[in-house]
Amino acid sequence: MQDRRVLSGMRPTGQLHLGHYHGVLKNWLVLQNEYDSYFFVADWHAFTTHYSDKIDLNTNVMEMVVDWLAVGINPNTSTIFVQSKVPEHAELHLLLSMSTPLSWLERVPSYKDQQLKLNTKDLATYGFLGYPLLQSADILIYKAGLVPVGEDQVAHIELTREVARRFNYLYGREVDFEEKAEIAISKMGKKQAQSYRSLRKTYQETGDDESLIKAQALLQQQNITLGDRERLSGYIEGVGKIILPEPESLLTKASKMPGMDGQKMSKSYGNTISLRDTAEQIQAKIKRMPTDPSRIKKTDVGNPQKCPVWQLHEIYSNKSTCDWVVEGCSKAKIGCLECKQPIINAIEEELFPMQERIAKYQADSGLIKQIIFEGSEKARSVAKETMIEVREAMGINY
Ligand code: TRP
Ligand code: SF4
Repeated sequence: MQDRRVLSGMRPTGQLHLGHYHGVLKNWLVLQNEYDSYFFVADWHAFTTHYSDKIDLNTNVMEMVVDWLAVGINPNTSTIFVQSKVPEHAELHLLLSMSTPLSWLERVPSYKDQQLKLNTKDLATYGFLGYPLLQSADILIYKAGLVPVGEDQVAHIELTREVARRFNYLYGREVDFEEKAEIAISKMGKKQAQSYRSLRKTYQETGDDESLIKAQALLQQQNITLGDRERLSGYIEGVGKIILPEPESLLTKASKMPGMDGQKMSKSYGNTISLRDTAEQIQAKIKRMPTDPSRIKKTDVGNPQKCPVWQLHEIYSNKSTCDWVVEGCSKAKIGCLECKQPIINAIEEELFPMQERIAKYQADSGLIKQIIFEGSEKARSVAKETMIEVREAMGINY
């Protein structure tokens, strides 16, 4: 079940745009049909870089959830929640911070990269250094098996794995661990117990991954308590009880969506088309897009490979339109405005139905609040369970 749980979050620092839709949300739409999915608004994370900006979080959080629903995230099957509504994330972050070496955080690439990139901000803060650890707490508190993230976040998942391993190593050792593990084995069926023992033996003697995977799978099928499953899972590797399982990143292919200047579409470059842009805004933005610089006059021939508009055709246009572009551009038969028109149409067709749904949800703030409330309550009940185990392992259970 744990490896069937997916978790991902987004920082509510501004409006969602086509880059989010094509790069992240479309992927979530697929995942939500296959996994027990948790999607959350990482509102505390927004302060790690925006602590001194006056961003309207209330609006941003509501709009983010509205946009998720409008693109098709289903609140009946996915758990949609807001980080700050589950304060247990902060407790786990605090407890993990006690055993996390500073050097692990200092060497996360985004720490130095972002400080350089956002050099108008003072990011030499405790919170900014620690934010990948807050992210680890976000993930570990749900025992999520898979975390869909982009390239820039893979190092954070790697950190999360190290943090989990260290936690399990430090606190997963119960005094009577072996005894409890043996009792748990004896509660399995005789045959099952035998296979478990032999797989464990092979793994311990040879380090054969196959045996580890088989033994883990065997435990998933057993009708045993969560505590025993974690004990036996740790017992295979000989480490102790695994309280916080290590997640894996599910690398999302980089979105090919170019911004209006041909760079990656990103709010920080100011080159986005928002999911909420009007037809006029879409037209104006596409019309202003730079094209192959060698096409000054309509009679100049061009090369689509040197034109950011072509990248949009690759996303939005069918073969015959693409052929028309290549032919028209390289033989100077069409003008650039003409070439842009099918893109304008396609983006409008993509966004209008979405915007109708946005308008509907936007008008029903009661419903949005209800969805956030219910999702956060559900998330919280999972988080509370984990915290009981964490506190118990650390001896904070008096
Ligand atoms: N740090 C992520 C980002 O900037 C957002 C995030 C916070 C997240 N907590 C998470 C993503 C947990 C995945 C899992 O995009
Ligand atoms: Fe770009 Fe199209 Fe103009 Fe060619 S015709 S330069 S592909 S906008």
